[in-house]
Amino acid sequence: MKGVFISIEGIEGTGKSTQAGLLAEHLQRQGLSVVRTLEPGGTPIGLRIRELLLSLESAGMDPLVELLLYNASRVQHIREVIMPALGRGAVVITDRFSDSTAAYQGFGRGIDMKLIDSLDVISTDRLRPDLTILLDIDVETGLMRNRHINKQDRLELEDVRFHELVRKGFLSLAAGEPDRFRIVASSAGIEEVHRKIAALADDFIQRSGR
Ligand code: TMP
Repeated sequence: MKGVFISIEGIEGTGKSTQAGLLAEHLQRQGLSVVRTLEPGGTPIGLRIRELLLSLESAGMDPLVELLLYNASRVQHIREVIMPALGRGAVVITDRFSDSTAAYQGFGRGIDMKLIDSLDVISTDRLRPDLTILLDIDVETGLMRNRHINKQDRLELEDVRFHELVRKGFLSLAAGEPDRFRIVASSAGIEEVHRKIAALADDFIQRSGR
């Protein structure tokens, strides 16, 4: 039996982790087996890589090192958590996956997309989410939301221009793969955004016959 792989993506402050949690509860209520996870992280080793990536002490990190570490976390995540869960027929909901690397390291940092893609093939062996929910919000509102909850890590301290590039990057990735992506405006209230995401996921799971 093959599970369903769903990723939730977006810039800072879109409420991805809240929405991932609500979606997981929604699908569990229907009796589905759900694994909720995140990147960077998702495994004990991934969490140590996350700490290294996001710590303010890593201010001098070279962009290529950053790219490799996101990929390293992903390899561990796929092998230890995602593939076994999909093999058991579970629904896997991940807060970020490869699209974040294309958006942040590619569009944001300006690393050559060919390099990003070839590393991605090595890291993921072309594993792609079946469905990607892109939560979209304007950069100022997103960054402001996170400041309210005192969340400040190394990438969030990048300037507004960087986050604008990342947002445009996500939107252009979505435009390139309209079958996989669904864009949801996350400026509305938590409940309203959740209802939209739940409807998209229900529809997808029903249509895929899994
Ligand atoms: P978050 O999960 O709290 O949003 O934090 C993860 C940070 O790492 C966020 O700033 C986005 C960034 N990131 C990348 O730059 N590339 C990646 O591949 C991933 C997964 C995250």
